[in-house]
Amino acid sequence: MSNHPTAIHVQDLRKSYGNLAAVQGLTFSVRQGEIFSLLGPNGAGKSTTIAILSCLVPPTAGDATLMGHSIRSRPGAVKQVIGVVPQEIALYEDLSARQNLLFWGRMYGLKGDPLRRRVDEVLELVALGERQNDRAGQYSGGMQRRLNIAIALLHEPQIVILDEPTVGIDPQSRRRILDSIQELKRCGVTILYTTHYMEEAQELSDRIAILDHGRMIAQGTHAELVGMVGELSRIRLTLSRKPSGLLDLWRMLASVHSVSEENGTVSLLVRDSARVLPTLFESAARETIQITAMEVQEPDLEAVFLHLTGKALRD
Ligand SMILES: Nc1ncnc2c1ncn2[C@@H]1O[C@H](COP(=O)(O)OP(=O)(O)OP(=O)(O)O)[C@@H](O)[C@H]1O
Ligand SMILES: [Mg+2]
Repeated sequence: MSNHPTAIHVQDLRKSYGNLAAVQGLTFSVRQGEIFSLLGPNGAGKSTTIAILSCLVPPTAGDATLMGHSIRSRPGAVKQVIGVVPQEIALYEDLSARQNLLFWGRMYGLKGDPLRRRVDEVLELVALGERQNDRAGQYSGGMQRRLNIAIALLHEPQIVILDEPTVGIDPQSRRRILDSIQELKRCGVTILYTTHYMEEAQELSDRIAILDHGRMIAQGTHAELVGMVGELSRIRLTLSRKPSGLLDLWRMLASVHSVSEENGTVSLLVRDSARVLPTLFESAARETIQITAMEVQEPDLEAVFLHLTGKALRD
């Protein structure tokens, strides 16, 4: 047996809305205590997948288990082990943060001292303790989002599922949310996270699944995924004048994979940028061309998405 038992297993999950196949056969597993991200552009099927795993939407085919409970046969048990933070914020705006938490805590069957202690704990975790008596309706978007996260944590779920929790909020709240998620991981909670920000997926996740049009196009650690692009780096150079024969010379270099030029900006895909750069500078100097600006982009998830789909993740 592995040291990391499975928290979530998704098997050939599918969801169609009429002719539209929103999720087209997803299979993946998340280990206990892991932060696993679904990364994908708008319409990739992230929210649909989460709605199915939360037992809010029935799958068209396939199944999933959460802490061993099937979404098809044990939805009640699934709901006990998960805390879900949906993409849309849902709060009682006229109630204070604390009153919101007390209300939802009672819905989960908590009461008395245990309820008050748990409310204090989750307020602490999302760093809202000082503002707990303010009306939720007066909170900033980021604070409302953090309160939503606190509500999802009240019943001490073993799995926390968050759907793009940092979209459209201030950098400070974003930082706090990412810190809270890391704190949950330290407490042994399993996290399923969705985002379309590759930097966020990279920073936060133990493993990442890249989705596009309801399909998984790749999954693995960040290092495994960027390894798929073959360790090529992108270099962008600006030259002091038209390069004439220089680009052909560069194309001949063994570590240069491709060279393209547009309006005086040259893009190269190269292996081992640190070694090839001096050669580029020397050969340019020999032709009395100066390199006036330079940018090296190490392989990233953007490059992986581009490599696998031929389109940019950001659009
Ligand atoms: N209730 C629904 N009825 C019909 N089509 C739907 C429904 N929900 C989602 N879809 C469609 O399914 C596809 C996947 O949508 P989904 O919301 O899962 O994507 P997403 O990855 O969460 O995107 P976003 O980043 O914009 O939140 C989209 O084409 C969407 O229009
Ligand atoms: Mg969504």
